[in-house]
Amino acid sequence: MDADGAGRNDYDEFAEAYDLENETSLTNAYHERPATLALAGDVAGRRILDAGCGSGPLFAALRDRGAQVTGVDSSAGMLEVARTRLGADADLHLADLAGPLPFADATFDDVIASLVMHYLPDWGPTLRELRRVLTPGGRLIMSIYHPMSAYCIERLAGRRPDYFTTWSWTEEWAMGGETQTMEFWMPPLHAMSDAFGAAGFRIAVISEPRPVPEAADLFPEDYRLLATAPGLLFFVLTAAPV
Ligand SMILES: C[S@@+](CC[C@H](N)C(=O)[O-])C[C@H]1O[C@@H](n2cnc3c(N)ncnc32)[C@H](O)[C@@H]1O
Repeated sequence: MDADGAGRNDYDEFAEAYDLENETSLTNAYHERPATLALAGDVAGRRILDAGCGSGPLFAALRDRGAQVTGVDSSAGMLEVARTRLGADADLHLADLAGPLPFADATFDDVIASLVMHYLPDWGPTLRELRRVLTPGGRLIMSIYHPMSAYCIERLAGRRPDYFTTWSWTEEWAMGGETQTMEFWMPPLHAMSDAFGAAGFRIAVISEPRPVPEAADLFPEDYRLLATAPGLLFFVLTAAPV
């Protein structure tokens, strides 16, 4: 890995192993995905961009519910797994959410960004681009690590002295025989709200759902933790008219 962090967050290295984990894990299968689908509601007929679609489990669930889904991700390896899951005709694109997206203005009714924004150091350009590809009144539904849990973990470890600045930290993820350094970025809540407003979004919903109840028997210890402490934070934002 370079000193500047190049080579971090390389999902290509463990795409299949991550997909297997995502299929059954408490965080993804019993917490994040059900919560996102509940917030999205009836999506039949809606044009949805799955931003940071990974291996496509949410894409599949939205498509099963009648949505017309497009996926975008910066990992070719994850998109390959998504292609296997979703079929040759699935609309999948390789692109970095930090840059311009290959879609015309007002292409989508909804953008869903599940567990991806916390990989981006600067949310401004990405939010503006997501706003551009949404129809006025369209929704951006996003989930991130909860900023308070991210703060408490780093504070208790003596690494984060100041909540009020955007913070980045790294974790070593071992999966499928590979170890990768993952780097995350977490602005304080007020900075998220400022960035939403500056990009032309209004906050419609802030949600802190617990995992679904059936997870209690499958993951008793972790369930107890996630049912009593913040783990993930969800927003539903609406795109203001330009
Ligand atoms: C934690 S996974 C979540 C995948 C999927 N949204 C889900 O919930 O199953 C994060 C995904 O975001 C993608 N990603 C990370 N940074 C990205 C960026 N700058 N642009 C596009 N995709 C990115 C990764 O390649 C990975 O597939």
